[in-house]
Amino acid sequence: MQAYESLPAAPASSVDDDSTATRRDAGTTESSRANRGWWDRNADDYQVEHGTFLGDDRFVWGPEGLDEVEAELLGPAEELAGRDVLEIGAGAAQCSRWLAAQGARPVALDLSHRQLQHALRIDGGAVPLVEADAGALPFLDGSFDLACSAYGALPFVADPVRVLREVRRVLRPGGRFVFSVTHPVRWAFPDEPGPEGLSVSASYFDRTPYVEQDEEGGAVYVEHHRTVGDRVRDVVAGGFRLVDLVEPEWPAWNTQEWGGWSPLRGNLIPGTAIFVCERD
Ligand SMILES: C[S@@+](CC[C@H](N)C(=O)[O-])C[C@H]1O[C@@H](n2cnc3c(N)ncnc32)[C@H](O)[C@@H]1O
Repeated sequence: MQAYESLPAAPASSVDDDSTATRRDAGTTESSRANRGWWDRNADDYQVEHGTFLGDDRFVWGPEGLDEVEAELLGPAEELAGRDVLEIGAGAAQCSRWLAAQGARPVALDLSHRQLQHALRIDGGAVPLVEADAGALPFLDGSFDLACSAYGALPFVADPVRVLREVRRVLRPGGRFVFSVTHPVRWAFPDEPGPEGLSVSASYFDRTPYVEQDEEGGAVYVEHHRTVGDRVRDVVAGGFRLVDLVEPEWPAWNTQEWGGWSPLRGNLIPGTAIFVCERD
């Protein structure tokens, strides 16, 4: 494993220090450009803060710590061998490394060059990496048996149906796509781990994106809100059948906070929604 300090220098992150948060529209191009920059600038901090919890070769679906070993949302682990799997918004490709250990053939795709440099740091290039936007997948039709995404891309894109259609296109018939996102109900609450995060402060039905912007008003980070119903309709419009919607409960062993996700809130309200989808 390459030492963390041996990576080339990361882009400066001072732009984020001067940013202000607001709710306003943000389209596909602006969201993509802002998030590529944000993840490039913040990948180092993300991996330092969460790398141990994620593990170099574990498949964790979100801050609750639900592990694919127990969840088997992609199917029984013993049936993963020989399967072509696309991981979208892979970050440092921790999930792909677990899939490879099961005998699958993963490809880890991410928008952020810096996140993928962390994948290289961890395994020296053992997992194939692709730098691309989830809205325009650089693969032929029917290239994969399975696709997965743990908080990658779907929370950040303005047009989730476009991503779902792309994933459907590159999946073979009968293929499964499983993705996790922030549970939509969380958008009605302040993103705080303590008691202040338990009182409704905004409308659940307000789809206006969360945008952090620089002094000129240019977006430097964007998240898009969809209600549960919106997500279900997106899955169907993308050409999939929804076969399960998993809301992981906060386990007693997990005492760690991750941003607004905490044991306090996790015991009372859902924090993650995992959509299990299949194409015909
Ligand atoms: C919260 S991280 C999750 C990374 C990884 N799945 C994990 O669990 O650590 C979100 C990832 O999605 C990537 N991402 C955001 N928008 C994307 C897009 N439009 N296409 C591909 N990746 C995107 C980011 O670069 C980032 O690495």
